[in-house]
Amino acid sequence: MKMGNSSFVAIALLMSVVVLCNGGKTSSYVRKLIQNPVDMPLDSDAFAIPPGYNAPQQVHITQGDHVGQAMIISWVTVDEPGSNEVIYWSNSSLQNFTAEGEVFTYTYYNYTSGFIHHTNITNLEFNTTYFYVVGIGNTTRQFWFITPPEVGINVPYTFGIIGDLGQTFDSNTTLTHYQNSKGNTLLYVGDLSYADNYPNHDNVRWDTWGRFIERSAAYQPWIWTAGNHEIDFDPQIGETQPFKPFSNRYHTPYVASQSTEPYYYSIKRGPAHIIVLASYSAYGTSSLQYKWLTSELPKVDRTKTSWLIVLMHAPWYNSYYSHYMEGEPMRVVFESLFVKYKGDVVFAGHVHAYERPERVSNDKYNITNGICTPVKDISAPVYITNGDGGNQEGLSINMTQPQPSYSAYREASFGHGTLEIKNRTHAHYSWNRNQDGYAVEADKLWLFNRYWNPRDDSTIHIP
Ligand SMILES: [Fe+2]
Repeated sequence: MKMGNSSFVAIALLMSVVVLCNGGKTSSYVRKLIQNPVDMPLDSDAFAIPPGYNAPQQVHITQGDHVGQAMIISWVTVDEPGSNEVIYWSNSSLQNFTAEGEVFTYTYYNYTSGFIHHTNITNLEFNTTYFYVVGIGNTTRQFWFITPPEVGINVPYTFGIIGDLGQTFDSNTTLTHYQNSKGNTLLYVGDLSYADNYPNHDNVRWDTWGRFIERSAAYQPWIWTAGNHEIDFDPQIGETQPFKPFSNRYHTPYVASQSTEPYYYSIKRGPAHIIVLASYSAYGTSSLQYKWLTSELPKVDRTKTSWLIVLMHAPWYNSYYSHYMEGEPMRVVFESLFVKYKGDVVFAGHVHAYERPERVSNDKYNITNGICTPVKDISAPVYITNGDGGNQEGLSINMTQPQPSYSAYREASFGHGTLEIKNRTHAHYSWNRNQDGYAVEADKLWLFNRYWNPRDDSTIHIP
């Protein structure tokens, strides 16, 4: 049957109404595409090797204890092991301190790593600028960071969120935009270098990635979540130890939260209790991760840390075709816990786009009752996917249609997020699209704390 123009317009109008009724906003922003981003070349300035004999490179830091009074300082030397010492001092003291750590090396197929140093410096004062020097005995390099405020419910603090960054020209833009944000600490939601996309997982691309992120990660802690691109399991080339490059290069303070694996752990930082989950470790009800989480959640004291933030790689609520439903098995196991304990916000990556669902839950299904539709639940966290760092695999542009009711905003563009915690009741989340100016917020909302201010903060109507 041939359709007249007027019928077509009428159907199109009807469809647009249907889309509006079903969900939130699918951004009409059209990014100049469609070619996938390309990795920056090996001789790019972003990967520059610092000059000098045995000069430390790939310098990065992460929180080294449970409350923010320690920092793991990590760097790589290539000519010889060199010293594991870090010399550090605060801007309010004339006294220098020295800490000594450990050095690690690994081989991966035909690659041999440099000397990877990790030194935890402890007993730091809160809210203090520290300077630190690495490369003692050879070429030294100096950096600085600011410790967080003491854990407390009304402490303002700003986190950045990046996922799936990779090392393309777009990744470079994302990082520059993030550096122009107010972020004090970066919550990294997994998939780092994408070295595994190269023949034999060319680990040289782990080194370039380390040098690329140094300009931010040497000056503020990046909190690590493991993604699928960190697994690096490839029995065809004899590499059967999962997470080998990642676990040698990027340490986490998992022991401080009684975890048994570096891929799931918790930290407290300023006003936040942050739980990092492992999408690629066992999480069934008999797993160590499940046992750890169920013993961790009752320890979250909202009268000390007002905000409960969760990081994971594979999102539970995702309306893109890319990785659609992949987060379901973990959601089925864990979701009711985060509703019970009133998680404020869950950040994930994996899907190479941006999406912000509303507060929903879907934990009533018991295989016979047929109740399997997400429903509005103001006790539930807000779920945000920030898998839009800019890696070489390109954007996830295909979305399920119509936009589901729980999805408030979705857009296939690269960018990063920031979460500005103002006090125990309010936090402001915003998403910065790479194509916009540094201060432009393409999506934003006020989040109300689930424990201290459990009012409805929806931005769209959900049935
Ligand atoms: Fe991923």
